[in-house]
Amino acid sequence: MEDQAEKLREIMRRRKENQGAAKPSAPAKINAKPLEKARIITVTSGKGGVGKTNLSVNMALAFARLGKKVVVMDADLGLANVNVMLNMVPKYNLYHVIKKQKTIKEILVETEYGISIVAGASGFSQIANMGEEDRKKFISELDALSNADIIIIDTSAGVSSNVLDFIAAADDAVIITTPEPTAITDAYGIIKIIATEFDSLNMGLKLVVNRAKSAADAKSVADRMINIAGQFLNLKVDYLGFIYDDDAVQKAVLRQKPFMVLDPKSKASLCVQHVVDRMDRNKPIEPRGFGTVLKRFFGKEEVTGV
Ligand SMILES: Nc1ncnc2c1ncn2[C@@H]1O[C@H](COP(=O)(O)OP(=O)(O)OP(=O)(O)O)[C@@H](O)[C@H]1O
Ligand SMILES: [Mg+2]
Repeated sequence: MEDQAEKLREIMRRRKENQGAAKPSAPAKINAKPLEKARIITVTSGKGGVGKTNLSVNMALAFARLGKKVVVMDADLGLANVNVMLNMVPKYNLYHVIKKQKTIKEILVETEYGISIVAGASGFSQIANMGEEDRKKFISELDALSNADIIIIDTSAGVSSNVLDFIAAADDAVIITTPEPTAITDAYGIIKIIATEFDSLNMGLKLVVNRAKSAADAKSVADRMINIAGQFLNLKVDYLGFIYDDDAVQKAVLRQKPFMVLDPKSKASLCVQHVVDRMDRNKPIEPRGFGTVLKRFFGKEEVTGV
């Protein structure tokens, strides 16, 4: 098994070097106009396959039911699958944006479910290797989505520079794990990186336990993680809720429809609605908007917490 901790340390080393190199450059002035700020929810995990895409898409539907305008962005540039889950084959995706052939607005597609998606770019991992200028441009492109109420970013598993950028942009960084020990260990790994990377920030870190057998099972997983994060990392993590392990999820994945649509009364659907109701009650006072990413990574030190 790969030493995850060493891999993460290496990423952080490279990142620190890059940040150091970026320091002398002038603050980016890409957005002169005031931002209309969407609430940005980044969904991430340590281990792969724990339910990020299912949570992202179904959370989007639950928010849409509350009357919100929602965009799901598939930021998994290795194995994009939001569109697969929705049985859609968009003509253009983030690859075309990164390659500057299209703008984000041009690749945004409506779904039949009342949410829009920005399709990911399967088999394309170059975003992490983009030069600073390109990266800056790409992130500023995301401002085009800011007339949405909610932007849900489905990231790839584990820590990479682009995942950290999206976490930095988030009003709510949702970490998802299952009760499996390996998933918990990897989730803790990513929380630790976030604590190291963003120590001065008041990150809205939220934990979701997926595939739980019972509420008590999920709660004990969450309690353990929250205590460890508090005790050893001095990091506040909120427990957002859990999702039952439910056959309705696999069935929906096979049918390429969200389980909230296919089986709205399923245990998994009710749990997602509960998680979203909870998030909706705990709105950030002032959403950050993507402009903050620019400030954070390419210029000003000062960061406003939410
Ligand atoms: N609550 C659940 N109950 C039962 N099965 C689930 C549940 N959540 C996820 N799964 C199963 O796990 C699979 C992976 O889910 P999903 O694709 O959402 O994970 P992911 O974290 O996005 O994966 P990746 O890291 O590859 O992007 C689903 O296809 C489904 O079979
Ligand atoms: Mg996924």
